[in-house]
Amino acid sequence: MLGRVLCAALFVGALQSLAKASQGHISVVLLGATGDLAKKYLWQGLFQLYMDQVSNGHSFTFHGAALTAQEPGERLMFEVLKKLSCPPDEAPNRCAVLKDQFLKLSQYHQLSSAENYTALSREIEALLRQEGLKEAGRIFYFSVPPFAYTEIARHINSSCRPPPGAWLRVVLEKPFGHDLESAQQLAAELTGFFREEEMYRVDHYLGKQAVAHILPFRDQNRQFLDPIWNRHHVERVEVVLKETVDAKGRTSFYEQYGVIRDVLQNHLTEALMFLIMELPANVSRAEEVLQHKLQSFQSLWGLEKNSAVLGQYQAYASQAQEELQQAQDYVSTTPTFAGVLIRSDSLRWEGVPFLLTSGKALDERVGYARVLFKNRAYCTQSETLRDAGHSQCKAKQIIFYFGHGALNTPAVLVSRNLFRPVMPKDSWKEAVARSDLHIFGQPLSDYYVYSPVKERDAYSVLISNIYHGRKDFFITTENLLASWGFWTPLLDSISHQPLRLYPGGVENQHLLDFEMVSGGLAFTLAEPAELLNPTRHMPSDYKAIQSKYRQSPLVSAWSEDLISQLASDMEEAAVRSVARSGQFHLALSGGSSPVILFQRLARHHYGFPWKHTHIWLVDERCVPLTDSESNFFSLHSHLLQSVRVPYFNIHPMPVHLNRRLCVEEDRGTELYAKDIVALVANASFDLVLLGVGTDGHTASLFPRSENGLEGAPTVVLTESPVKPHQRMSLSLPLINRARQVFVLVLGKGKHDITTLLSRVGHEPTKWPISGVSPSSGQLVWYVDYEALLG
Ligand SMILES: *[C@@H]1O[C@H](CO)[C@@H](O)[C@H](O)[C@H]1NC(C)=O
Ligand SMILES: *[C@@H]1O[C@H](CO)[C@@H](O)[C@H](O)[C@H]1NC(C)=O
Ligand SMILES: *[C@@H]1O[C@H](CO)[C@@H](O)[C@H](O)[C@H]1NC(C)=O
Ligand SMILES: *[C@@H]1O[C@H](CO)[C@@H](O)[C@H](O)[C@H]1NC(C)=O
Repeated sequence: MLGRVLCAALFVGALQSLAKASQGHISVVLLGATGDLAKKYLWQGLFQLYMDQVSNGHSFTFHGAALTAQEPGERLMFEVLKKLSCPPDEAPNRCAVLKDQFLKLSQYHQLSSAENYTALSREIEALLRQEGLKEAGRIFYFSVPPFAYTEIARHINSSCRPPPGAWLRVVLEKPFGHDLESAQQLAAELTGFFREEEMYRVDHYLGKQAVAHILPFRDQNRQFLDPIWNRHHVERVEVVLKETVDAKGRTSFYEQYGVIRDVLQNHLTEALMFLIMELPANVSRAEEVLQHKLQSFQSLWGLEKNSAVLGQYQAYASQAQEELQQAQDYVSTTPTFAGVLIRSDSLRWEGVPFLLTSGKALDERVGYARVLFKNRAYCTQSETLRDAGHSQCKAKQIIFYFGHGALNTPAVLVSRNLFRPVMPKDSWKEAVARSDLHIFGQPLSDYYVYSPVKERDAYSVLISNIYHGRKDFFITTENLLASWGFWTPLLDSISHQPLRLYPGGVENQHLLDFEMVSGGLAFTLAEPAELLNPTRHMPSDYKAIQSKYRQSPLVSAWSEDLISQLASDMEEAAVRSVARSGQFHLALSGGSSPVILFQRLARHHYGFPWKHTHIWLVDERCVPLTDSESNFFSLHSHLLQSVRVPYFNIHPMPVHLNRRLCVEEDRGTELYAKDIVALVANASFDLVLLGVGTDGHTASLFPRSENGLEGAPTVVLTESPVKPHQRMSLSLPLINRARQVFVLVLGKGKHDITTLLSRVGHEPTKWPISGVSPSSGQLVWYVDYEALLG
């Protein structure tokens, strides 16, 4: 107790001597003050903040906090503080004095109960009153596991908010959830306690000097980059983090996350966004930067299973088994290596591959983002002469080097045959180019090389940005959810994907090299060793067992394999039809299931005879074609805008006539039927793609529909039980004239109807799908395992 009183007295004394502050007082509370992150980086970052800001007008106190009781906690914390080091660029005398002051301004608090938080807040208020200081704000740094967030947030909100006029900033460390749903949940909880502008979610990569300089670099070098920062000039973009360490000692965390959640979803994605986002007119406007970043997320193509190659170092399974105390035969499906191919459909980047790669137990420790430009010159001169000058034939690249590796410092490198970049002289200096070092196949002397004048740890940079309220260095809730929204489908789809085992270190040799093939990634070398085969797979003869469904052929697989089979079968049908008649008449359904199919057709089927294909709609909602609810709109976004179907071969349903929607006297249905009769031989489509609703509807033909279930082969208006109610649809008799009908059924939600339909006969008024039975054509069912087996 005596220690505490003495300490508090010193604390106040130190504050008095500095209390000339006019701009007010800032209290920094570090929760988890004796944890690993605090020991390694955070206290040092706070000390750096103090050194940088001590004479700039604010006064500070630093409050370390943890669950540990007062006396032992205080001892532990001061052991850490005593070891704080002076940066090499700081005068030793000044630093020693400041360190002494910093220690005196620091206090330990036990924060384990609601009363403890109330007490802390009262202490801060009492201190400020006593010293006559105005409060500027409070920073709460959460260096604690995420399960503790909600509880701490509740206490801060209820008893530690500063008085009106002063700000609150809470700093949160990852992980922020492990998929979209958990991230949404955590975000929703925190939103109850804090306003968006109060939250600073840390991705420490945004504090790495080379990453933090990407946007300023793009801004200051607009004159050079504007003409070349696009798909016509950029060959590819790589963002890479290679580690030599493995996950030993951390597998209890790692087993739940894996390399994609640990590194790609956050650090590498953020660095990529800085490279590919549209540059705001003013890069200092945090709002605009964040807005442009979000737009970039929206331009990315969805990831598929074959967008990624995955590996696991050999010792991982036994490490996990030992640390998690699992049985000998424990199988881990957690990837420790991943390469992922990302694409964008923006006008700037369409067709340019973005490669994100990271792994543990690799041959070197290095991180960088590299923009490689296309070589547009043909060099006639012989090679020796070519190397002599600064030739246009050498590789052209810009590299943001995060650190470690051959250079062992953060750096920005620009090939000399590109341009001499504009760099801020006060923070980046030109480094001596050593020609004995090679970076990406070129001697360092081929580049302009810049390194920071003062090397700063990422956490020091971030803590300074928290102090300055620079929110563009942090992850907003929208940004976080956009990123999880982008990664979660891949994470779901690779959970049964085999992993390539690798020995680790230099022994990996070329085992983890990969290449871009047919729109995805594949390892370059064939699998040499054993595959890690997850046990969750269906028996492999499953397809053979269930080859019929409702007396028609059935194809079944996991959804992604199923879609890829269906797309191939469609291409085959198209090629056959064009060979036979010169045309392919394809009628497509709306709804959510075909979207992945459309995307697959757009991205992988370059042999599809689009030029000779006519696209018809099976059904349409009575909304304008530009409405996002429109089936045609979805077809356009996911397929038509990416393939070359002649305009006059595209036949949207005329739901919008005379500036009104689906009015009977406008005769839209007759118009469409007439077009079909005029263009499609014998009104017999070559292929009709259908789906099934949970109520057994197909096309827009609903149970007990008055129209379209029987009678003439026509086009009809129908009523849906769900909004938008009015629909236009091909009738069952028209569908049944087709040469081929494929029915696609996906997802657990369809399990009940799939089971039911397997038992019922021909009863179209109850289940319209049961009336699909081509009079002379073929019907094939494509049902995924989830729909078939639940
Ligand atoms: C924190 O709260 C607990 C429970 O109310 C109490 O036992 C403890 O003494 C408090 N710690 C301090 C330093 O006041
Ligand atoms: C946060 O504090 C305010 C003011 O005390 C209170 O009205 C609000 O309910 C609190 N939020 C939550 C989620 O408890
Ligand atoms: C850019 O934005 C910053 C922050 O809002 C502002 O201080 C600065 O004046 C702006 N620069 C220009 C050129 O408009
Ligand atoms: C036209 O379609 C009907 C109904 O499907 C079929 O019976 C008939 O054989 C077809 N005729 C030709 C010439 O294809």
